[in-house]
Amino acid sequence: MSETPTRDEAWALLREFTDNPSLIKHALGVEAAMRAYARHFGEDEASWGVVGLVHDFDYQQNPTETTHLHVGTRILRERGWPEDWVRAIASHADYMGVPRDTPMAKTLFAVDELSGFLTAAALVRPDKAIAEVQVKSVKKKLKDKAFARGVNRDDVRRGAEELGVDLGEHIAFVRDAMATIADQLELPPRNS
Ligand SMILES: [Fe+2]
Ligand SMILES: [Fe+2]
Repeated sequence: MSETPTRDEAWALLREFTDNPSLIKHALGVEAAMRAYARHFGEDEASWGVVGLVHDFDYQQNPTETTHLHVGTRILRERGWPEDWVRAIASHADYMGVPRDTPMAKTLFAVDELSGFLTAAALVRPDKAIAEVQVKSVKKKLKDKAFARGVNRDDVRRGAEELGVDLGEHIAFVRDAMATIADQLELPPRNS
């Protein structure tokens, strides 16, 4: 690859390995959050978005700790993806042992689990509108172990801490980023 991968190439890579609608929506939600944070921090929106979009591209076929990202990073390197992007992607799973030592890596980790939790919080609302999800309600649900039990609460808290952002502000920020693509997430837009 002569230049860095484009959004189109990232999308093609994701779809080459993934047809599960939930995983595709997860990728789009994380992409939206990454782009919003890149703008916020004055970083490169295109590369942050691409990293968000592909971070789990190998997950459907390799869902275990001994395969997810082990396979994915090998494929990315074989295809000539930039090493700093590959490392940021790898670092979203602690078991890969890659330090989250860049703003891109810290942000990916911070938005990954939270985006799934926000989707779950939207889906239990009668209007299913992610834009209307309240920070207070998300914080309460984080303490409720029975709610969205697949989401690691520690990762959500640690993610905000490592990024150096207030948890409440972080929840609102990611919610608003995801709300901008509510249609693609198949969630209704803000009530008008
Ligand atoms: Fe992952
Ligand atoms: Fe993920």
